[in-house]
Amino acid sequence: MPRKVFDGVDYDDGYDDDYDYDDLDDADYYGKAQPSEPVKETIKRGTWSCPICTYDNDESMTACDICGVFRNPLPHMNNNHDKKTATAKTSDSSSAKTQWSKTNNVEDNNHVKDGVLRLQANNKASASSSISKESIPSMESSSKLSTGNEQLGDQVSGASSRRNRMGEGTPSVEEIRPQSHNRGMSKSDLPSKSRAPYKPEKWMLPEKEGSDLNQLNLAIVGHVDSGKSTLSGRLLHLLGRISQKQMHKYEKEAKIQGKGSFAYAWALDESPEERERGITMTVGVAYFDTKNYHVVVLDSPGHKDFIPNMISGATQADAAILVIDASIGSFEAGVDPTKGQTREHAQLIRSFGVDQLIVAINKMDVVEYSKERYDTIKQKLGAFLRLCGFKDLSVLWIPLSAMENQNLVSASSDARLRSWYQGPHLLDAIDSLQPPTRDISKPVVMPVCDVVKSQSTGQVSAIGKLASGALRSGSKVLVMPSGDVGTVRSLERDSRPCTVARAGDNVSVVLHGVEETNIMSGDVLCHPEFPVPTAKHVELKVLVLDGSAPIVIGSQLEFHVHHAKEAARVVKIISLLDPKTGKASKKTPRCLVAKQSAILEVVLNGSVCAEEYSNCKALGRVSLRSLGRTVAVGVITRLIED
Ligand code: GTP
Ligand code: MG
Repeated sequence: MPRKVFDGVDYDDGYDDDYDYDDLDDADYYGKAQPSEPVKETIKRGTWSCPICTYDNDESMTACDICGVFRNPLPHMNNNHDKKTATAKTSDSSSAKTQWSKTNNVEDNNHVKDGVLRLQANNKASASSSISKESIPSMESSSKLSTGNEQLGDQVSGASSRRNRMGEGTPSVEEIRPQSHNRGMSKSDLPSKSRAPYKPEKWMLPEKEGSDLNQLNLAIVGHVDSGKSTLSGRLLHLLGRISQKQMHKYEKEAKIQGKGSFAYAWALDESPEERERGITMTVGVAYFDTKNYHVVVLDSPGHKDFIPNMISGATQADAAILVIDASIGSFEAGVDPTKGQTREHAQLIRSFGVDQLIVAINKMDVVEYSKERYDTIKQKLGAFLRLCGFKDLSVLWIPLSAMENQNLVSASSDARLRSWYQGPHLLDAIDSLQPPTRDISKPVVMPVCDVVKSQSTGQVSAIGKLASGALRSGSKVLVMPSGDVGTVRSLERDSRPCTVARAGDNVSVVLHGVEETNIMSGDVLCHPEFPVPTAKHVELKVLVLDGSAPIVIGSQLEFHVHHAKEAARVVKIISLLDPKTGKASKKTPRCLVAKQSAILEVVLNGSVCAEEYSNCKALGRVSLRSLGRTVAVGVITRLIED
């Protein structure tokens, strides 16, 4: 979503990206950090005060943790760089700074390229290269594909390219080259876990109950071409987040490219490749306010090759809109167990803990707003959603047309629809969702979905949603599994600087003291005294999805947990579970087939941050994929130490 749309009410300057990530930073910061006249810092007991920013640094630091100024004079200390203690890493900001300036070769903030915050699981180049011609009929030639890839490759930052632990859309486990196992710290290297129970500080708690709108992370999911981006773009336009002038620009440009019907989708599909192909490839993030919520829209790609990106966005969702194309044949294609994405998306979001769902039955204009068609879809899909674990009362069904603006933010004006539907419109349905609960009283945990390095300042930012706890400028954070300890230099929410971020907030965290090489998508920021566990061997409770090939001991799978992915092997199938009671029904079955629930063990190629679901939902929900499809979803029931 164009971030600029939310930065102010003046949309008149068209679509040029007026958002500058570096606006947050004092451009001279590091320049000032090397004063020609040496300034002596004040030394308190156990700390030294930075002469520039007055931050009280720990005695062990050789440079200021906030602004990077060298301590003057340098204390006589034994700085053993090989010893990967968190303190030593934190204190090594000088070398980090030098490295930043040397490797200053990446696009600033490519994730907000063209003003859109993009969430992607892996590098786009590998993603696009995995698309076959058959899978996107609109693609004209493979040379076009490779051109697109090159363009995309250019956009990938250093951080992003390092993120390619697993070729997106490349299902072969052999191709997976995880890097995480080389980066993880041994247990003895980690800061010692606090024995004292965690107690949140006062600033972490919201000042006044009800003072701010509740944030609602709303994933827009569904089969390819069902109209997710068009619906999102339409909503943003209707709610004044996209100006009339801007909309005209989209319409004109889309028409010139022969893609007139995609004008609203262009608000979310910003890259030339997405526009040319008419498909969403990475998750677009947009914001709008309703009566009750500050809604963060996560517009997911529907194409099967971009499911890893969809997962990356959907793991952050509190609720979801499942968009269905009502046209004859299209709904059926979407729910096809082997080729459609409707079922897979529904199962994935349920496995990520989303239990409130709005089913937007879109393109009702194509079926003349037929009640019969609506009822058929509701009946067929409703039965499946029940199987996924959605309760009838938590599913809202809204017939609408994004293209003809029917039933989006006001009651339908079309007599055909009005004659049989008097229920809520989409905006009302969003407002009627239950507010999500937030774990503010627990230590901070933030799975990192993207890492961006600023070209001009070299600052490293981690982007993600806080699963629990709170952060503010100056907070110390531990990066797991690398073990780096850094300091939050600044925070940004919805493209704007903010002072505090709490559980549920999607933020960009500018870090100080963390080396770019020691943080990547799939890592987790946490409280230094409450490090999140890492695991390589886990016990899972899973449900095998429709249409999946049997899972046997030795099956090679892709293991997805929050934004982390690793190659995994099934090493034990412990028991089948009775679907009604959830109790073990058969011990050590030879294989698992579709619709079966079971307890099994998998061993990963490398360690990932993970936790038992009962302790931390965000780090305990998993999906297993193979050959480009999700074969099972579930939760971690045990971390196994080998
Ligand atoms: P992916 O992100 O690639 O999965 O597609 P999407 O679900 O975002 O679909 P998108 O918004 O790109 O729309 C696909 C096509 O459906 C476009 O040509 C839209 O104009 C069309 N479309 C979307 N909504 C409607 C609708 O309500 N009625 C009609 N007739 N067409 C629609
Ligand atoms: Mg789309």
